[in-house]
Amino acid sequence: MEKKTLYSAVQPSGNLTIGNYTGAIRNWVALQDEYECFYAIANMHAITVRQEPSELRRRTVELLALYIACGVNPEKCTLYVQSQVPQHAELTWVLNSMTYVGEMERMTQFKDKSARHAENVNMGLMDYPVLMAADILLYQTDVVPVGVDQRQHLEIARDVAIRFNNRYGETFRVPEAYILKAGAKIASLQDPEKKMSKSDENPNASVFLSDDKDAVIRKFKRAVTDSGNEIRADESKPGVTNLLNVYAAFTGCSVEQAERAFEGKGYGEFKLAVGETVADALAPIQAEQKRLLADKAYLGGVLAAGAERAYKAARKTLSKVYRKIGFYQGE
Ligand code: TYM
Repeated sequence: MEKKTLYSAVQPSGNLTIGNYTGAIRNWVALQDEYECFYAIANMHAITVRQEPSELRRRTVELLALYIACGVNPEKCTLYVQSQVPQHAELTWVLNSMTYVGEMERMTQFKDKSARHAENVNMGLMDYPVLMAADILLYQTDVVPVGVDQRQHLEIARDVAIRFNNRYGETFRVPEAYILKAGAKIASLQDPEKKMSKSDENPNASVFLSDDKDAVIRKFKRAVTDSGNEIRADESKPGVTNLLNVYAAFTGCSVEQAERAFEGKGYGEFKLAVGETVADALAPIQAEQKRLLADKAYLGGVLAAGAERAYKAARKTLSKVYRKIGFYQGE
């Protein structure tokens, strides 16, 4: 039986956080045997906020090394850089004509980012979900593993696919989100009402995958907890709940098991244990990423092979789209 197709991507737009790991990349590894997987480095999405060119280039390769260091196998999966497959931009243009401005204005991420980058509310920022829909639909994707914050964008991808299929006949497979419970929504350590983000201004809010053990432990020790002293997951205790989620995501236990493990313990001991668990999980990933980054030729080879495979798949879908909408492709 043919394998189902899975697609996901991360932007090379900053230091990745443990949320990117537990919400996305770690789940990719678990799914790579079961699905035909495409994992992109979304550099076209990244330029919707200003990037330093040399850093963007460096982070692209670092992100590939990180994917592999986390256990994504380039022999099994197609790993590639979004801008190296021109069909992403081409399909975006077609889908733009089928997406309404009002839909884009309502997107939570657009509203947040427009507020944060008020000096640079560019068309790309608004069009971001359409590019993401193009990414997904080009590969006839069945499932998209992402964190909770991307759910709204995935709904747009589904809506656009359905709209296109209704107007032009069956063309795109309609994708489903794949959101795991544990780790799909890691919050900021300083403000547990906000998601942990690559671009938070407060350096203590996010734990980066590149943080060393001391930094990880220091950040968890400083994490905002709640009044009271019970270690329990509860809406009234967002700080403690977040730390329990992190612990569960990194150990593979359930939140209930985590609660039991810390029953009767104090906040100080709890925070230290979470910090140590995370630091110990990150150390081997960091070492492997460093080892891979010393071999640029290998990484370049992975991306060249990935771009070629992605290009073939994407060209097939785009040609079908062009035929359906009446674009001349030669006699
Ligand atoms: P990005 O780069 O912001 O985040 C990458 C992945 O990490 C997840 N994530 C989190 N999960 C849990 N807790 C958090 N605090 C947290 N922060 C981030 C995100 O949900 C995401 O899965 N637009 C996408 C990249 C993209 C994409 C795609 C994804 C481009 N094209 C096609 C899927 C399919 C983004 O900005 O992710």
